[in-house]
Amino acid sequence: MAKRPPRADIRLLILALVAVAAAAFALAEIGLKSAPTPDTGIASAEGEAAIGGPFSLIDQDGKTRTDADFRGSLMLIYFGYTDCPDVCPLALSTMSAAVDSLGDKGKSVVPIFITVDPERDTVEKLKQYAARFNPRFVALTGESAAIEAAAKAYHVYFAKHPEEGGSYSMDHSSVIYLMGRDGQYLAHFGAEASAQDMAQGIAKFL
Ligand code: NI
Repeated sequence: MAKRPPRADIRLLILALVAVAAAAFALAEIGLKSAPTPDTGIASAEGEAAIGGPFSLIDQDGKTRTDADFRGSLMLIYFGYTDCPDVCPLALSTMSAAVDSLGDKGKSVVPIFITVDPERDTVEKLKQYAARFNPRFVALTGESAAIEAAAKAYHVYFAKHPEEGGSYSMDHSSVIYLMGRDGQYLAHFGAEASAQDMAQGIAKFL
């Protein structure tokens, strides 16, 4: 590829950033549609269809993990996939920064990543991926039926999106849920939330 003058490179970079931001907003929109109250970012579960429920999945060490394993902790749960180019890395980075910023108080919060692409997201792949963000992440995969059941319980939408060359990406909701020590819904955040807002939202329940 021919060398471009620096100014053109900056323009390209800005265009790329705008494209990423637009994609993030588009996916956040999908997420908000399935969220209980799209306006505040943090909401009470009262009067809404229950969010959450039992799951039985496999973590990045190959161990079976169920929702019951996390009783007594707060679960910060996000569904996505490791090949996601933009929204998932953003959400996981924010979750990581938010739980770390809570210090000792935040040690009872477990950040959980559940793949919606179990076909490609193997235990080994999840192990590498989670480690990139925060060693505290519990990254979960499982049989398609188990993933579908978990996603349904959390009102998470996902679908395969075919790409050229036979590959595919995943369309998916991008809501981050905060679940209580009893496993009940407490609050949710959009993937575009700042780490500071997320930490403040979580701190209310610590
Ligand atoms: Ni994603």
